[in-house]
Amino acid sequence: MISAQFLQRLTLRRDRVESFERYPFKLPAVRSLEQLDFHPKITYFIGENGSGKSTLLEAMAVALGFNAEGGSKNFNFATRRSHSELHEYLRLAKGYKRPRTGFFLRAESFFNVATEIERLDAEPSFDAPVIDAYGGHSLHEQSHGESFLTLLTERFGGQGLYILDEPEAALSPQRQLAVLSRIHDLVRDGSQFVIATHSPLLMAYPDALIYQCSADGVAPVAYEDTEHVRVTRDFLAHPERMLRDLLKP
Ligand SMILES: Nc1ncnc2c1ncn2[C@@H]1O[C@H](COP(=O)(O)OP(=O)(O)O)[C@@H](O)[C@H]1O
Ligand SMILES: [Mg+2]
Repeated sequence: MISAQFLQRLTLRRDRVESFERYPFKLPAVRSLEQLDFHPKITYFIGENGSGKSTLLEAMAVALGFNAEGGSKNFNFATRRSHSELHEYLRLAKGYKRPRTGFFLRAESFFNVATEIERLDAEPSFDAPVIDAYGGHSLHEQSHGESFLTLLTERFGGQGLYILDEPEAALSPQRQLAVLSRIHDLVRDGSQFVIATHSPLLMAYPDALIYQCSADGVAPVAYEDTEHVRVTRDFLAHPERMLRDLLKP
């Protein structure tokens, strides 16, 4: 069926992979990957540090035409050659509708996106300053959390496709909830999100799909069954008990 959903399915062209013994193909998240369906609203990727979430998201972003270090499709800078060749091995099934806008955000390189905006605006141009689309104030002159929220409220819009890698990094719990609410508005306005996160708050959107990356590969998991929810809930329910175990003399 032809769908209006921007991103529908990812397939790894396994026949093209020469060896699953080297990076990035040896990562558990890639080694057993066949295909993944995306949720029309939000698809989350969760899993231990090093499980391959960023590698996967980055490959998707590059395959979709985003700059590997982040930004909109108009960004074309690199401070280091960082991305793997995985994008060349992905087939992405897209709907008949094209997103009106989009953004790839890597928490690690958000700083470089802010710098790139300043560099573009320092060049002579007849166009409106790039920063105007980001609220008009230098992202470097706001705290990391503030500038990220500015990005979501000022730059992100409806009918967009957004790939976010650990966006919670700079955000207080209150701000994470504000982000969830903003994401909800954008989803109602026809946007689609792919988000890698460790935050039990940020992954709580009810109408979504959560993929867990583990040693066994990538598989869907229910929100209540995620380690993030279980560990956080157990800890907050019995902090003394867990702390006693953790901090044994
Ligand atoms: N260029 C590279 N060459 C070899 N290994 C890499 C490279 N980049 C990342 N890795 C390794 O791949 C693994 C997955 O990394 P990553 O996708 O960043 O994980 P996650 O985002 O889930 O924490 C890590 O163990 C990392 O050390
Ligand atoms: Mg990562």
